Amino acid sequence: MQTLTIRRPDDWHVHLRDGAMLKVVAPYTARQFARAIVMPNLDPPVTSVKTAQAYRERIVAATGDGFTPLMTCYLTDAANPDEIARGFEQNVWIAAKLYPAGATTNSASGVTDIRLIHPTLARMERIGMVLSVHGEVTDPEVDVFDREAVFIDRVLAPLTREFPALKIVFEHITTQDAADFVRDSGPNVAATITPQHLHLNRNALFAGGLRPHAYCLPVAKREQHRIAVRQVATSGSAKFFLGTDSAPHSREAKESSCGCAGIFNAPFALESYATVFEEEGALEHFEAFASEHGARFYGLPLNEGTVTLARAASQVPTEIDGIVPFHAGETLGWRMVADEGV
Ligand code: NCD
Ligand code: ZN
Repeated sequence: MQTLTIRRPDDWHVHLRDGAMLKVVAPYTARQFARAIVMPNLDPPVTSVKTAQAYRERIVAATGDGFTPLMTCYLTDAANPDEIARGFEQNVWIAAKLYPAGATTNSASGVTDIRLIHPTLARMERIGMVLSVHGEVTDPEVDVFDREAVFIDRVLAPLTREFPALKIVFEHITTQDAADFVRDSGPNVAATITPQHLHLNRNALFAGGLRPHAYCLPVAKREQHRIAVRQVATSGSAKFFLGTDSAPHSREAKESSCGCAGIFNAPFALESYATVFEEEGALEHFEAFASEHGARFYGLPLNEGTVTLARAASQVPTEIDGIVPFHAGETLGWRMVADEGV
């Protein structure tokens, strides 16, 4: 097989930033994906219908037509169920994002105690609005590599018992524990998977020295976990779908005494995922992972149009507009060559 043509895919988790950075990075996402779920962790975060609408307009101005940003709202301790339901009913946002306070970049205004947002979660459960979850505890006593697994026990499992019909996306899963939890939960619980967590284990952070460009949150885990995440991603299960978590930071912000978490993978995301599916002998499941499972979970129509990847070298630049991309300096064995519109 020399080319691979799939239904046009969607990215179910991306950070497009704002201002000058938005203009640089958004076109890379729009080039490959018809739609993307845009994370709300701006500074200040997107918490109101009005700010989400304005942000959506800035994104469309940066990408042009042919790309649909799907907005999210950022949950805080002060989340107002009426405002959140209003944005959903007016088709401004599609999901609400739970960041435990302090878990990651721009999460200072996140939720300090899940009980504070129970009224909002009850409302979301009733109206069928998705909760997308950054699944890590922030307790400093918990080892950073255990924070996802501990989150399942302390927060997520109780949440699914309290709100059994709430639609939940466990974002950017990194562990066997998360893969098992999602697989064994009901059909209203799903997960996104990033390219970096399919390619990297935690050794990548320390390969020959400290590697800030391999650092994101949740941090990469042991090889055993990477293998488990690869297995579910490529299994064909409808509970697992593409979410790049592309999270650009300038080179200076990454290469610092306190480097930012986040990997900019948007420019070669499809090539990166395709490489993994091929290595796993699972290219037949690639289209469903990239273009079907997420849309079905969110209750959206599948895209028209296609993209085509060819078996050709993609030379990943060492830097793109001041940002070091994922796979910088590497050659990938696939290249996106065509894009048939609707
Ligand atoms: C994200 C960012 O930079 O906004 N960083 C990351 O490492 N993934 C935030 C997030 O999704 O955790
Ligand atoms: Zn993210």
